[in-house]
Amino acid sequence: MKEEILQMLKSRQDFVSGQELCEQFRVSRTAVWKVIGQLKNEGYEIEAINRKGYRLIASPDILTESEILSGMTTGVMGRHVYYYDCLGSTNDQARMLAEKGAPDGSLVVAETQNTGKGRMGRTFFSPEGCGVWMSLILKPDIPPVDASMITLIAAMAVQEMMESFGLKSGIKWPNDLVIDRRKTTGILTEMSAGPDVINYIVVGIGINVNMKAFPEDLKDTAISMAMASGQTYHRAEVIRRVMQYFEADYRQFLEAGDLSFLKDKYDAALIHLNKEISVHEIRRVWRGISRGINDIGELIVSTDEGDTTVRSGEVSIRGIYGYAE
Ligand code: BTN
Repeated sequence: MKEEILQMLKSRQDFVSGQELCEQFRVSRTAVWKVIGQLKNEGYEIEAINRKGYRLIASPDILTESEILSGMTTGVMGRHVYYYDCLGSTNDQARMLAEKGAPDGSLVVAETQNTGKGRMGRTFFSPEGCGVWMSLILKPDIPPVDASMITLIAAMAVQEMMESFGLKSGIKWPNDLVIDRRKTTGILTEMSAGPDVINYIVVGIGINVNMKAFPEDLKDTAISMAMASGQTYHRAEVIRRVMQYFEADYRQFLEAGDLSFLKDKYDAALIHLNKEISVHEIRRVWRGISRGINDIGELIVSTDEGDTTVRSGEVSIRGIYGYAE
């Protein structure tokens, strides 16, 4: 009931009477008063005036279940939120919850992570109060080999979220989000599967949202949305928009079985489309021109010998001028 009351307060500029809240949610005045008290404790500024009722003045930038859910417009994605002040890694917690039966679309969010995981065994910087560290649990009925395409959908959703705030970012295939050659979002997808069946997929997304600066070791390669635009963002709204864009593309992916519907949009967001890149394999580094993705999300690279495709997970690519150019 808390998120419904919050949603109602958010949707009105003016006062909502206690009577209306009681009738709408079929609860007593005391119950409403208790919820208002809880919301105030969480940092919501709520004006309460006798005979007029309650008016929401300001919402804090917090990531509680009720704050994320109030205003969520998706059907499935992010409809169950598991919020924690602090976790080792939201991906690890999501795997644990998925094993225990958390439903498709569940979202695990932490205010901070002690041991945020990046790709290739790296740690991911996840401080308190300025980022979105979240993991989405998916239980799709698709062959395990198709799972890597979901990572590209997640990258697209984050790019679209930023665009919706007027912020231009680009994708470095398969799933890094880049602004001014610096990384603003990392995605780590993990899967539990048998030979033919997926038990669950965890899509971990780390978005640098409101940081004003980064530690010395990251300052040349990382950037936040706030540093790029000079604005600050309400992180719950960032999450809701990512869920919305992700759900729209993910539904189409489940229907189509591939990324043919996404290809043009995804290619348009690539920072290295038609540019020279270097492809890093375990034993070999080679160069070619990036030509965008094919229907199954592989990167097409042209070389002197013709076109070839590379698969995510097997290679990493770099611009020839550094991290992302
Ligand atoms: C990378 O770029 O190397 C991937 C980084 C992924 C970070 C996110 S933050 C939320 C989720 N939990 C983790 O431990 N990692 C992912």
